[in-house]
Amino acid sequence: MKVIVTGGAGFIGTNFIYYVLEKHPENEYICLDKLTYAGNLTNLEEAIKNPRFKFVKGDIADRDLIYRLFAEERPDQIVNFAAESHVDRSVLFPDEFLRTNITGVGVLLDACRKYGIERFHQVSTDEVYGDLPLDRKDLFFTEDTPLNPSSPYSSSKASADLIALAYHRTYGLPVTISRCSNNYGAYQFPEKLIPLMIYNAMHDIELPVYGEGINVRDWLFVEDHCIAIDLILQSGKIGEVYNVGGHNEKQNIEVVKAILKATNKPKTLIKYVTDRPGHDLRYAIDPEKIWNELGWKPLTPFEKGIEQTIKWYLENVEWMKDIMTGEYEKYYSEVYNNREEKFGR
Ligand code: NAD
Ligand code: TYD
Repeated sequence: MKVIVTGGAGFIGTNFIYYVLEKHPENEYICLDKLTYAGNLTNLEEAIKNPRFKFVKGDIADRDLIYRLFAEERPDQIVNFAAESHVDRSVLFPDEFLRTNITGVGVLLDACRKYGIERFHQVSTDEVYGDLPLDRKDLFFTEDTPLNPSSPYSSSKASADLIALAYHRTYGLPVTISRCSNNYGAYQFPEKLIPLMIYNAMHDIELPVYGEGINVRDWLFVEDHCIAIDLILQSGKIGEVYNVGGHNEKQNIEVVKAILKATNKPKTLIKYVTDRPGHDLRYAIDPEKIWNELGWKPLTPFEKGIEQTIKWYLENVEWMKDIMTGEYEKYYSEVYNNREEKFGR
C-alpha cells in the first residue's frame, strides 16, 4: 500500500510518520509538505533514511503539482494533516487559512476523484463544534453535535469537513474524518500553549496566560492520536466521523502550573494578559464511538505524557534554537505586545 501523508513535516504528521513506518513495514509513505514556518524537514531526518519513505515539497492548493504527484505515485490512501493550525494566527491573518484549509482540501479531493483512491482521511479538530459552557460539566461534543466554529481557523476546518463529506455523498469518494481534542508531545511548534510555556519557563520569560486562565482544553498525547488515525484507516467506516479524546480536561492555568512545577520555576513567571478574541471556553470530547466501535483508548496518561514532553524539549534545545529565529520573534511581538490595544474590548 502506498500512502501520501500531507503536512507530515509538522507536529502531528511527524509523529504519525514515525509511528506508521514502524507499524506497517509493508507500506510506502510519501510526505507532501509546503514547509511553512510550522513544517520542519529536520523532523524527518531519520525517516528520510528509510527506503520506504520519500519527501516531496509542495502545496496542497497547487492543483498541477498535486495531479502530477497522484499521476506519478498512484497512491492508495491520503491522510491530510496539512493545514494552517494556530487560532491566534488565524485571528491576525485569516487568508492563508482559507487557502490551505479549504481550497487545498478541495484540490486533494478532486485529485482523489480523478485518480481513484482507497481512502481519503481528513484530520480535523473538535474545534469545529465551537465551545461548551464552563458550568455544564455534563455536556460533551458527540459526532452529532452541530458544527458551530468560532475562529477563522475552526471555521476553515469545519468547511473542509463539510466538503469532504459532500464528496462522499455526491461522488461516493471513500472519506473518513477524525475530530481530535488538543494534542501535546514532541515536535510541537512553540506557538501552542504547552511548548510555548515550556520554552518560556526554561528561559525565565514570563508565561502569558489569556484572560483568567480558566478556559478548559481536553489534552491528548500525540501518539494516542496517531494510533487512533491508523485504526480508522484500518477499520473505520467509510463516510463516518470519529471523535478522538481521552476525557482529560484541564484549565489552562492548571497546565501552566504543572509545567512550572516540573521545570522547577516560580509561579511569579505567570502573567495574565488580555484574552484572545472569541476565545472558546471549553472543549470536551465524548469518545464513546471510537471506544466502542474501534476499541481505541488512550494509552498515555497526562502525568506521564507531560513529563515525557518536557524531557523532549529539554533534550532538544537545538531544535528549539533553530525555530527561534527573527520570524518567530516577529510573530511573538505581533501576538503578545500591546494586546489590550489590539484585542481589548
Ligand atoms: P502544524 O501546524 O504543526 O503542521 C502543519 C503542517 O502542514 C506543516 O508541516 C506545514 O508546513 C504543512 N502545511 C501548511 N500548509 C500547507 C500547504 N498549503 N500544503 C502543504 N503543506 C502545508 O499542525 P499540527 O498541529 O501537526 O496539526 C496537523 C493537523 O491536525 C491539522 O490539520 C490540524 O487542524 C489538526 N489537529 C491538530 C490538533 C492539535 O492539537 N495540534 C488537534 C486536532 C486536530
Ligand atoms: P492553543 O495551544 O493555541 O490551542 P487551541 O486554542 O487551539 O485550543 O491554546 C490552548 C489554550 O491555551 C487556549 O485556551 C488558549 C490558551 N493560551 C494561553 O493562555 N496563552 C498562550 O500564550 C497560548 C498560546 C494559549
